[in-house]
Amino acid sequence: MAAKDKKILEVKNLTKFFPVKKDFFGTSHSMVKAVDNVSFYINKGETLGLVGESGCGKTTTGRTILRLHEPTAGEIIFEGNNITEADMKPLRKKMQIIFQDPYASLNPRMTVGDIIGEPMEIHDLEKGSQRKDKIYQLLEMVGLNREHASRYPHEFSGGQRQRVGIARALAVKPEFIVCDEPISALDVSIQAQIVNMLEDLQASLGLTYLFIAHDLSMVKHISDKVGVMYLGKLIELADSEEIYSKPAHPYTQALLSSIPIADPSESRKKKRIILEGDVPSPINPPSGCRFRTRCRYSMKKCEELEPEFKEISIGHFCACHLVSE
Ligand SMILES: Nc1ncnc2c1ncn2[C@@H]1O[C@H](COP(=O)(O)OP(=O)(O)O)[C@@H](O)[C@H]1O
Ligand SMILES: [Mg+2]
Repeated sequence: MAAKDKKILEVKNLTKFFPVKKDFFGTSHSMVKAVDNVSFYINKGETLGLVGESGCGKTTTGRTILRLHEPTAGEIIFEGNNITEADMKPLRKKMQIIFQDPYASLNPRMTVGDIIGEPMEIHDLEKGSQRKDKIYQLLEMVGLNREHASRYPHEFSGGQRQRVGIARALAVKPEFIVCDEPISALDVSIQAQIVNMLEDLQASLGLTYLFIAHDLSMVKHISDKVGVMYLGKLIELADSEEIYSKPAHPYTQALLSSIPIADPSESRKKKRIILEGDVPSPINPPSGCRFRTRCRYSMKKCEELEPEFKEISIGHFCACHLVSE
């Protein structure tokens, strides 16, 4: 258990802005504030669930950590080293990503065996018959079998394709995996199977996950901690149980209240909070608290001052004027 308490990844004030709207001279005058000053850490062997509505910056956070986007500001610390400007080639073996849409992320002209073998080729890992054995072993690890190696992605179901995507990520023996909505595109009946498999793989291989989802119900079982994003900001972060039992931010409360409850008597007791209005643009976010335009508790202060991301009880952080007073 001691090893579990060790930070493997930390981001400090991570920021990623994308330039938009080029003028006649090719100059950009505004920025999409996709990720704005986000800080958190993940302990080795644990899962941080990252949730929030579409467009709030979850994918950009994951991709910037892997330096698939260069950060605009902030630091990324991996295994104690600042990798914000490091050469990523040797680190790609340790840090992998599983994509939301397994079909789009698998080359349709490559066999599944070649898809899984490609990262080994790039990193010069196993060769010849050893590589073949490793590919078979990976297929079995994700619940497929060696006969699948000679087939093409279109011959598989969505769930099986995601298994191939997972095998490909595992091919380089990574330590840390960004799982970017790995179950959002799958049938509900398949989602639990994939999550259970990711949990089993985590336990047997000691993996650490940043598990992205748009909905709190999807990350409940797999996450040790949960972070909630809104318009590029991390607005709440706590242990998983704490987030579900004592959500502090009005936005987290609204997200939680929208999760359907199976038990009808429980469901009647629960009051749904309807979020009014649309998500504002990340190019021109509201002043003060970014959530204030949709918050039922909004006060004058929320318009004038950005709430600090403060620790409100041990390990529970929240950015809301209402909560921090
Ligand atoms: N490569 C890019 N260029 C410009 N804007 C981008 C790019 N990637 C994402 N964005 C914008 O950044 C914001 C956050 O996007 P994203 O991280 O994909 O959100 P999420 O994964 O939470 O749905 C959105 O407004 C999106 O349009
Ligand atoms: Mg996304």
